[in-house]
Amino acid sequence: MNPLQLLPPEPAHQAAIWALRHLPRALQTGFAAPVVDPRLSSQLWGLDFPNPLGMAAGFDKHVEAYNALFGLGFGFVEVGSITPEPQPGNPKPRVFRLRADQAVINRYGFNSKGLDGARDRLRAKPAQGVLGINLGKNKWTEEAAPDYCAGIRELGPHAAYLVANVSSPNTPGLRAEQRQDRLRPLIVACQEARDALATRPPLLVKIAPDLEPEDLEAVADLALGLGLDGLIVSNTTLARPASLSGAAKSEAGGLSGLPLFERSTEVLRQVARLTRGQVPLIGVGGIHDAASAYVKIKAGASLLQVYTALTYQGPRLVPTILSGLLALMERDGLTQISEAIGQEV
Ligand SMILES: Cc1cc2nc3c(=O)[nH]c(=O)nc-3n(C[C@H](O)[C@H](O)[C@H](O)COP(=O)(O)O)c2cc1C
Repeated sequence: MNPLQLLPPEPAHQAAIWALRHLPRALQTGFAAPVVDPRLSSQLWGLDFPNPLGMAAGFDKHVEAYNALFGLGFGFVEVGSITPEPQPGNPKPRVFRLRADQAVINRYGFNSKGLDGARDRLRAKPAQGVLGINLGKNKWTEEAAPDYCAGIRELGPHAAYLVANVSSPNTPGLRAEQRQDRLRPLIVACQEARDALATRPPLLVKIAPDLEPEDLEAVADLALGLGLDGLIVSNTTLARPASLSGAAKSEAGGLSGLPLFERSTEVLRQVARLTRGQVPLIGVGGIHDAASAYVKIKAGASLLQVYTALTYQGPRLVPTILSGLLALMERDGLTQISEAIGQEV
């Protein structure tokens, strides 16, 4: 067990960020050696990924621990979500463990220190690996696009890739931005803001696992039609599978972890089919070991992210998943992880 599990969830989250900023690396990694192997490396969007496993958004929300996260062995790190202006998020408590289900429910509600502080920290400490920057909108903003464009302008120069997060269940009305009539102008505005940057980082959209089939088709059509660089599938779910046993299962918020795996992987598979493998996908939701990571890749994910399992299993999860992926590749006679992408679609 990860000893931080002895603390309540939000203090544990803060303590993890503190430990990453202040403790020596050997303590942070649990004395596990990082897995470095060229068979796990890949190139996407002209970027070099040393391995396909990334830290998902929502852990380093305030852009404080990204370089230490590279030190844990992640192939890439996504910080945020960051809102233009600082905002406190929802009242506490707002994160809940469902230990027996290996799941978490959170309703942080985009607690963010805002763009200015993030930009200053990134200037002072440039990222030592592939850094994704995940953008949100302030709770009080009526029109979403200007908020995302502000994030792109301010933080885009520091990003290897950018994410418009339109799928958090904890900002009222946000998920409506995924509807086709709203998503098209939003993506067009974000792409214009991105194109104005000298670095022109890839722009991705992160979607919910709760979209109906017709919404998924619309998202796929937009991604193909507008030349979106990628999709992240998926955010947390509002659904509550009947299997949940944790006392906190009725708390409001987004559910993540093991009970999200099947649904988020099915949505990933559908999106991979609908986009015919032409739009790179990042698979996230319920990855907890090498086998579940491998399933996501075969379902169409070029890259992976993990969050909830890391809170239960601790930092040794990263080398465990990566070495397990190498063993699965050997079993299947693969020489490069990219050969597995979409194999089952
Ligand atoms: C406590 C917590 C906070 C999160 N905050 C964000 C966020 O700010 N932005 C975002 O795009 N996703 C956020 N997520 C969603 C994760 O990035 C990920 O999509 C989701 O948890 C599924 O992955 P997992 O099952 O491996 O946790 C958050 C998840 C958790 C558990």
